[in-house]
Amino acid sequence: MQFDQLKTTQGLDVAGKRVLVRVDFNVPMKDGVVTDATRLERGSAAIKDLAGRGAKVIILTHLGRPKGSRNLEFTLKPVADKLAEVLGQPVRFVDDCIGEAAQKASRELQPGEVAMFENLRFHAQEEKDDPDFAAALARSGDLFVGEAFSCSHRAHASVHAITRLLPSYAGPLMNQEILALRAALEEPRRPTAAVVGGSKVSTKIPVLTNLVAKVDKLIIGGGMANTFLAAEGIDVGKSLCEHDLTDTAREIIAAAKEKGCEIVLPVDAVVAREFKEGAATETVSVNAVPADAMILDVGPQSVAKLADVIAGCRTLLWNGPLGAFEIAPFGNGTFALAEEAAKLTRSGQLISVAGGGDTVAALNAAGVTDKFTYVSTAGGAFLEWLEGKALPGVVALIEAGQMSRVA
Ligand code: 3PG
Ligand code: MG
Repeated sequence: MQFDQLKTTQGLDVAGKRVLVRVDFNVPMKDGVVTDATRLERGSAAIKDLAGRGAKVIILTHLGRPKGSRNLEFTLKPVADKLAEVLGQPVRFVDDCIGEAAQKASRELQPGEVAMFENLRFHAQEEKDDPDFAAALARSGDLFVGEAFSCSHRAHASVHAITRLLPSYAGPLMNQEILALRAALEEPRRPTAAVVGGSKVSTKIPVLTNLVAKVDKLIIGGGMANTFLAAEGIDVGKSLCEHDLTDTAREIIAAAKEKGCEIVLPVDAVVAREFKEGAATETVSVNAVPADAMILDVGPQSVAKLADVIAGCRTLLWNGPLGAFEIAPFGNGTFALAEEAAKLTRSGQLISVAGGGDTVAALNAAGVTDKFTYVSTAGGAFLEWLEGKALPGVVALIEAGQMSRVA
């Protein structure tokens, strides 16, 4: 991909222009109230910047999965109210994203003002990447800004088709995220390590297959490590394990050998007979897991070994926890390695890039999120990037950048 062709909003003349900004304000809600405003806080920088430069800012986003119908359970009205609070300025809420109401609002908006259009996914054409729907959206704007990296794996009208219809630019967050992921995966400082954790191999086969061809060390943790241990003939007792995938695990191990990537598995484990807070635990070698126990975290010898591995690397990519971190004490392995990564990052030795919902929660719990080089809040998009897939929303912005150079 020709990332250098990506055009950003930096230095762009937006004064007096109607700027459609596609953000990802798909925030968690309970009883009509936003319960976590992280995405609003992160997204507000670009909005403030554009408004401050005299743009008429129109926010486009989806919320949840209303499946193409106007289901008011998914209305963006409370999100618009919360955004006004975060921005410290009024946000005009418009109850449809296309049609007369939307166009009228876009005409009335003054430079520096902000509006938010109702949920894009109230229209089934959004998820179909429908060009007519994209054209209906485009009628309310002069420029388009893609600022939703976490939606860029979706070839939807507001992410993809619309970039063919309006001059289109990458917003600052989108640009920052792409730069961070390129630095970690595309043009990394070597040697590189990746930590891939989480419960199941089945959800991460494409990630593992892509990473063995790209990184020097692949650390596998979490429940999925059990499948790899079983593939090596180790009895994992009652642990979570996809026994039907041991052949797949062996194929990944073979591919890694061929590419010169070292797969690093846990050597000891914290086991318990019950999966609950404060359960009695034992630390055992992975070769000595009791038949009636399950592995719930990596043990201290594994942590020391993994810390050594990352200390010998200059780039680290992290997706997925090493244990069942939500329940004490099974987060200890993840937290200890995360602290090690944070320390190496702080000393300038390591570029550390992490992403994915569970990973962010684990790093937050470890208190190190702001000590990593970059932490992506994208879930699906981050995984698809790790799988080596081209993300339609990123490709579309690169192509838009190339087109405008030709024109
Ligand atoms: C997310 O929250 O992961 C993004 O907003 C994408 O949402 P989706 O998985 O419903 O497309
Ligand atoms: Mg999702």
